[in-house]
Amino acid sequence: RCQSSSVDDKPKSKRRLLDNASNLLTNLLSGGSLGAMPVAEGAVTDLFGRPLFFSLYDWFLEHGSVYKLAFGPKAFVVVSDPIVARHILRENAFCYDKGVLAEILKPIMGKGLIPADLDTWKQRRKVITPGFHALFIEAMVGVFTKCSERTIFKLEELIERGEHAEKYTIVDLEAEFSNLALDIIGLGVFNFDFDSVTKESPVIKAVYGTLFEAEHRSTFYIPYWNLPLTRWIVPRQRKFHSDLKVINDCLDSLIKNAKETRQEADVEKLQQRDYSSLKDASLLRFLVDMRGADVDDRQLRDDLMTMLIAGHETTAAVLTWSVFLLAQNPTKMRKAQAEVDSVLNNGTINVDQLKKLEYIRLIIVEALRLYPQPPLLIRRALRPDKLPGGYNGPKEGYEIPAGTDIFLSIYNLHRSPYFWDRPDEFEPERFSVPKMDESIEGWAGFDPDRSPGAMYPNEIIADFAFLPFGGGPRKCVGDQFALLESTVALALLLRKFDVELRGSPDEVEMVTGATIHTKSGCACAVPQRYGCSAGNKKHTGINASMQTARVSKAS
Ligand code: HEM
Repeated sequence: RCQSSSVDDKPKSKRRLLDNASNLLTNLLSGGSLGAMPVAEGAVTDLFGRPLFFSLYDWFLEHGSVYKLAFGPKAFVVVSDPIVARHILRENAFCYDKGVLAEILKPIMGKGLIPADLDTWKQRRKVITPGFHALFIEAMVGVFTKCSERTIFKLEELIERGEHAEKYTIVDLEAEFSNLALDIIGLGVFNFDFDSVTKESPVIKAVYGTLFEAEHRSTFYIPYWNLPLTRWIVPRQRKFHSDLKVINDCLDSLIKNAKETRQEADVEKLQQRDYSSLKDASLLRFLVDMRGADVDDRQLRDDLMTMLIAGHETTAAVLTWSVFLLAQNPTKMRKAQAEVDSVLNNGTINVDQLKKLEYIRLIIVEALRLYPQPPLLIRRALRPDKLPGGYNGPKEGYEIPAGTDIFLSIYNLHRSPYFWDRPDEFEPERFSVPKMDESIEGWAGFDPDRSPGAMYPNEIIADFAFLPFGGGPRKCVGDQFALLESTVALALLLRKFDVELRGSPDEVEMVTGATIHTKSGCACAVPQRYGCSAGNKKHTGINASMQTARVSKAS
């Protein structure tokens, strides 16, 4: 169920106990070393009837910010605490790998950054991070604009062709954003125009097929796909492998082409970060040009595949939930449109204008707070570790043995009643920086001095209570790319259209795999805006009273 219903859906007073024998077995398997930790006892049906993160939230309120969840022979430690999260993600990051997640994603992403073992990760991260240089992201603003305009043009055409006198069309905005994000990733990462906004192709179908399978695997707790012969016998596995081959062939030919067209003149431009005069400013061009012809093709393919998957559905989801929330809050939508009207003219967008779109940026981060993508981060302890005492757990913390699987619930952190005022409400203003003359009492959680110059609130400012892109060394490498991309797309959409949900928000059910998305789309009426200025006059402004995240007091 949707945002409002999800959190009000309080723990049922009587849950069926998880089979005692399985708890006992789990304790025995983990040597009893997690002994003192509260154990979530629920029916196994809790895990399947609705997205897992809802149940994890209920158990968080019941058992505190670090608890053990046992089902079948498996046990997970569930963490909903900024101090413990900071320890796992940053302070002792290399004591952990991606555990179950890596097992699920390796067949798709190979040795790409997300599932990579630590040695491969260290080597590849060093190579890839410079590719996301600020000037590269700036150069991408043109790509974000061009692709967003393609979506807008499509909507305008639908309106023109439609029969509605009031000039609107009805579309599934989730599907439109998914196409838009795919086009942007294709062009930005490997200079390939999927053009999925306007057409279908075998490669596009294969990408969606692969995403579908990745999602299925991430909600299926038994890796049946590793059983011998399944890839030949089970039809969905056969389809998955044929989809994978279509994408791999496409990526292989792009890599081959990038290597064959490498030119010293381009290398020099890249070294000087002179993206503006490059015909192809993609990340692939950077990776090939800066490392010469010796780059391992297989590794490059794994890197590209990882970014294709990691950067596509996530961005589509943040745009979908942003409009879903705005559609339910027309005053905030008008406030956003007023900002867009005052900052953007009809020409192209530049970075200085993007900096001025403060409210649009806050909408995006607030959508990421309410609907984090992914809602859970997954880790496995490589060695025994001692978790610190959390915000509302025992002071001395817990010893955990090597092999412990951990779910870091970003959803719980982002909706924690301990850190957020009215945690389930959509209040982009909560992130706005207090002005000098305003009281900063209770405001230590968002201290802009901790992250000077940050255009978007981040985990450092919020001291790990806000983790939209993770944190520590394995933090998302594409965070700034995604944020600017979403800002451009949302601003351009709101400049031209209003958004109205078709039907009640409660009917937009959530499902989750790697991201939180809708069960059957986000159908919206998209009316063209008339006389923007008249619309703005109606805008009455919003009381930008600040809310607090009282986080760092806990640390
Ligand atoms: C990692 C979120 C967009 C590439 C991550 C992680 C999060 C995240 C939470 C950390 C995972 C963990 O610690 O287990 C998001 C969100 C996005 C987004 C919410 C959009 C709104 C992108 C884009 C790209 C990308 C556009 C690439 C173009 C990656 C990669 C990693 C990663 C390669 C692995 C980093 C590493 O392990 O070193 N992302 N991401 N992401 N993301 Fe993103």
